[in-house]
Amino acid sequence: MGKPLHISFFLSFFFTFVFFILRPSSATNVYNVISFGAKGDGLTDSTKAFTDAWAAACACIASTTSIIFVPRGRYLLRPAVFSGQCTRTSIIILIKGTLVAPSDYRILGKADNWFSFEGVSGVSILGGALDARGHALWACKAAGNQQHCPSGATTLSFTNSNNIMIKGVLSVNSQMFHIVINGCNNVHLQGISIKAPGSSPNTDGIHVQLSANIAIVRSIIRTGDDCISIGPGTRNLWIERVKCGPGHGISIGSLAKDMEEEGVENVTVRTAVFTGTQNGLRIKSWPRPSKGFVNGVHFRGAVMDNVQYPIVIDQNYCPGDEDCPSQESGVKVSNVSYKDIEGTSATEVAIKFHCSATDPCTFLRLEDVKLSYVNDERVARSFCRYANGKAYGLVQPDSCF
Ligand SMILES: *[C@@H]1O[C@H](CO)[C@@H](O)[C@H](O)[C@H]1NC(C)=O
Ligand SMILES: *[C@@H]1O[C@H](CO)[C@@H](O)[C@H](O)[C@H]1NC(C)=O
Repeated sequence: MGKPLHISFFLSFFFTFVFFILRPSSATNVYNVISFGAKGDGLTDSTKAFTDAWAAACACIASTTSIIFVPRGRYLLRPAVFSGQCTRTSIIILIKGTLVAPSDYRILGKADNWFSFEGVSGVSILGGALDARGHALWACKAAGNQQHCPSGATTLSFTNSNNIMIKGVLSVNSQMFHIVINGCNNVHLQGISIKAPGSSPNTDGIHVQLSANIAIVRSIIRTGDDCISIGPGTRNLWIERVKCGPGHGISIGSLAKDMEEEGVENVTVRTAVFTGTQNGLRIKSWPRPSKGFVNGVHFRGAVMDNVQYPIVIDQNYCPGDEDCPSQESGVKVSNVSYKDIEGTSATEVAIKFHCSATDPCTFLRLEDVKLSYVNDERVARSFCRYANGKAYGLVQPDSCF
């Protein structure tokens, strides 16, 4: 994003605001992890100090807002769960330091999540760097003998939670997904930075599923898998000013994993930049029967720089051609619009709509799309299979509806 200043400005403003305006009214309690025994030396296991600070902040019914404060320093942390009925308070976790995983990758690797927030409401995480030190696990996986490697942990997970804010957080080298939002309502992610090598396996940036009213804004995501992945049961998702690359781009799916699956509805992606990614704006489903659907997706304003598949609907997603019966996808894709999309495709097919024969795509809409093939000698083209829609304004390559 090139605007870390913005984040630190916000944080210092926030800090000042919280400590000098709220505190005198005694509506705010501050829990410094140091006073619970944490040490920012990068060596001392501070897990218990963090969970104790959480328990104290969560139990506090006297104040409206509790702040868990993590000063500068490096804090060694094992997997931890933050849960409980903290209904009387909102909790702000204000992080100035870096949270680091143990050097033995198996400690995180055997857990599903490094930091797991479950069933909470009104929690904000402001600032901080989370360093999961994923390299050792990726090396284990790359060495072939996969069954000897643990599957790996998501760095930061929110499950069954409401009214969540994650702002100015940096996640580096996650073992698996960086951030997962699952079964949540009203989550705002802003100024998120994600960093992992383009070659790191399954390190999706932000994954959302079974959740509604989610915003992801002003974030930079450089990773090895999807920039943002959108799973079944996602409704009212707003993505704006996100930069992706390296990685696999923004993806709705994979859908049709199961027969009984919730749909994806009302997704907006505005002002996104994709640099050297595998996909730009993708919708993908397995070729299997399913009750799932995708309805109401608005891709508006995207720049593609050397993207392999800038615009793609792939309803025949079957990596390795394994365990995919020769069937069509039951996922109904409708009302998907692409407007003001420009840039370059790294492959000849810049627009690909590979839809389902049994449930064709309907109401696709292309408007003011200008994509060229990076190899100047050939023009980009589009591909349609069971794709119904209309083109408006200038569309290059020509649409094939
Ligand atoms: C669609 O989602 C946006 C937020 O992304 C929301 O503002 C809007 O009201 C939703 N529309 C409908 C019809 O629910
Ligand atoms: C798609 O949008 C059109 C008009 O905007 C609407 O009539 C139709 O019901 C929508 N499709 C679905 C599956 O909701």
